[in-house]
Amino acid sequence: MVKKIAVLPGDGIGQEIVAEAVKVIDCLKKDFGFNVETEEALVGGTAYDDCATPLPDSTLELCKASDSILLGAVGGYKWESLDIAVRPEKGLLGLRSGLELFANLRPAILYPQLADASTLKPEVVSGLDIMIVRELTGGIYFGQPRGIRTLDNGERQGYNTLVYSESEIDRIARVAFDIAGKRDGRLCSVDKANVLECTELWREVVTRAGEEYKNVELSHMYVDNAAMQLVRAPKQFDVMVTTNMFGDILSDCAAMLTGSIGMLPSASLNANSKGMYEPIHGSAPDIAGQNVANPLATILSVAMMLRYSLDEASMADQIEAAVQKVLDQGLRTQDIYSEGTKKVSTSDMGDAVVSVLQQQ
Ligand code: IPM
Ligand code: MG
Repeated sequence: MVKKIAVLPGDGIGQEIVAEAVKVIDCLKKDFGFNVETEEALVGGTAYDDCATPLPDSTLELCKASDSILLGAVGGYKWESLDIAVRPEKGLLGLRSGLELFANLRPAILYPQLADASTLKPEVVSGLDIMIVRELTGGIYFGQPRGIRTLDNGERQGYNTLVYSESEIDRIARVAFDIAGKRDGRLCSVDKANVLECTELWREVVTRAGEEYKNVELSHMYVDNAAMQLVRAPKQFDVMVTTNMFGDILSDCAAMLTGSIGMLPSASLNANSKGMYEPIHGSAPDIAGQNVANPLATILSVAMMLRYSLDEASMADQIEAAVQKVLDQGLRTQDIYSEGTKKVSTSDMGDAVVSVLQQQ
């Protein structure tokens, strides 16, 4: 049966990097018998400009009707002063909640070819392979009440609510335990249980779920310490599971261990493994339209899509192998460039991956 992928380039470099990922999908269709159709839709600031909303109903409907979604990035200077309710980021958050994509998988893998690109010493990061499992549809990102109110004394006060129910914690914990069970069998749950009641409950529920996963060794860490340990001795971690906001922060930190945030893909899954796939970096408006952004995180997101949602693990392997090969050939976009390698553009990098795929 033909599968359907909704393609949402979004804003900024989203347009350029998704174009390269689409080249890869087209190559899979042509040369690997991948039976898929793609349909593009608007999201983020580009959608706002056209439809006065960052998430048009037609886009959400298309995503609901598709087997999976490929997203570029959202946001940009142009839309920063808009009301928060219609900012590009709301488009992304609306997709996450509208499709119930509660499990966000963010792998941080250091490719040996890029050991020099990390700002950390090679011995600290070489061989790094961490999976961050971030809760994505709850916590302070979505908690009510929220807003900015005026107090009796005339002063304004901003407020947000950190809230997690037991079922929300339990389901993300189980995703993380399952993943850890298939890897090195170690799961570190990150919280701030010494201060926040909400994450005291988090710790309790994760511990309770853990009783059913005898093959996984569970540990707990406060988020401040986890941030420190990630840059001090990152290889101590196998899988980490944490709340929406802590996961947002820790995954950027983990990304830099690998040399560039331009290398890391992500998957956001619902309970039936339907997923949205996107690079973890943002729309980088400072370099948008210059053909210099790194498309590899988006191309690797296609590989994750094939593996987690479309049941095409061998094609996923092929893409990952092709990315390794172009790195072996010394090709680098500017974010991962170092002396002795060859600096290439966004489109050159995409073409190189396609050409390796065609030879495989
Ligand atoms: C991410 C991004 C988003 C988030 C923004 C763009 C809303 O930083 O995917 O990590 O905060 O979740
Ligand atoms: Mg982020």
